[in-house]
Amino acid sequence: MENILEKTTTENLLSNRVKAMEASATLAMAAKSRELKAKGIDVIALSLGEPDFDTPEHIKQAAKEAIDANYSHYTPVPGYLDLREAISNKFKRDNNLDYSPEQIVTSTGAKQTLANLMMCLLNEGDEAIMPVPYWVSYAAQIKLAGGKVIEISTNIDTDFKCTAEQLEAVITDRSKIFLFSSPCNPSGSVYTKEELEALVGVLKKYPKITIISDEIYEHINFTDKHASIGCFEAVKDRVVTVNGLSKGFAMTGWRLGYMGAPLWLAKACGKIQGQFTSATCSITQRAAIAALGDYLEPTYKMKDEFAKRKKLVHGKLNEIEGLKVNDPQGAFYFFPDASSFIGKSTPAGEVINDMDELCMHILNEGHVAVVTGSAFGIKECFRISYAMSEEVLTEAMRRLKACLEALS
Ligand SMILES: Cc1ncc(COP(=O)(O)O)c(C=O)c1O
Repeated sequence: MENILEKTTTENLLSNRVKAMEASATLAMAAKSRELKAKGIDVIALSLGEPDFDTPEHIKQAAKEAIDANYSHYTPVPGYLDLREAISNKFKRDNNLDYSPEQIVTSTGAKQTLANLMMCLLNEGDEAIMPVPYWVSYAAQIKLAGGKVIEISTNIDTDFKCTAEQLEAVITDRSKIFLFSSPCNPSGSVYTKEELEALVGVLKKYPKITIISDEIYEHINFTDKHASIGCFEAVKDRVVTVNGLSKGFAMTGWRLGYMGAPLWLAKACGKIQGQFTSATCSITQRAAIAALGDYLEPTYKMKDEFAKRKKLVHGKLNEIEGLKVNDPQGAFYFFPDASSFIGKSTPAGEVINDMDELCMHILNEGHVAVVTGSAFGIKECFRISYAMSEEVLTEAMRRLKACLEALS
């Protein structure tokens, strides 16, 4: 009998779904970075999206106690009830949002929360509107669910924020989702209450649009005025507020994301999650109750530390000739406009044709890893994470300046 498999390449064994997925630009950078490190080159990775701090002691303690108390069984899919009660209280305490425990679903990171939402809301060809730049995984998840990404362009001069007019101009009969993060990854921009109110002025006219507000950087906000779009009466019944412990509590590896959502959508997300992963880790859930309590001192300390680093990096970036820099109000990223370097030549005589090449050059010659803006939908910029010690950041900025200013 003919062996059909012999005629089949491994490539076409894969689903069209995964074949259509774009490879992550950050992965190429990470691979190259590892390659250089393996050769003994000291690369400074400013490409990572995670705090460099340790998880606060009281949270670790709660996890240890949970292990000893044998929290080792499957949990309810949306999470333990007392965890969802803690989240409901947190939403009220910090954000003045009213989500009952039944409206809350916890997941394996906010990434899964978002994936659940895309799978529950999007049919083939439905449109998800996002201001650019946006976090990399949004676009990949939307496309995987069959949706179409509709971009609203912004730039450094508008602090990377979109306006109500821009939003209204892209809304169609197929618009299903409006999604944004504030504070934003990668720009660090923070929408004020007034700016959100203007967007609500448009969104209230389109009841079929579900608003997804990703607030995972809530605690790293230097304005101290975090505003949630879910507070606005006119749209509150269709706002999903997404959050998680990764950034504000230095818990990236623990995997706990959560959302408050309309009940119909919370139930649907529970249904999807029940078939894919069930609930997130039981020990993490017990630790999360400690994290979400009233003791937030360690989180405030981390924010103060980020504020110092931001000031340092801001000053250094401003000294680099040709780089356009704004003053991000949240998260731990800068997203400078480096378009003036495109078309320039390296000391070896090679022309830099685009931002991907510029970032590769910064890595190869400057030994600093940053992420190209094209990964976030903007080709003029690159992202720098300043989740590093001041000493390391100072050295990284010295290298970056030398490398960029050597281009002619
Ligand atoms: C804007 C934004 N949303 C969501 C996430 C996902 O976070 P996690 O899955 O670790 O909770 C990240 C992580 O980088 C992020 O930057």
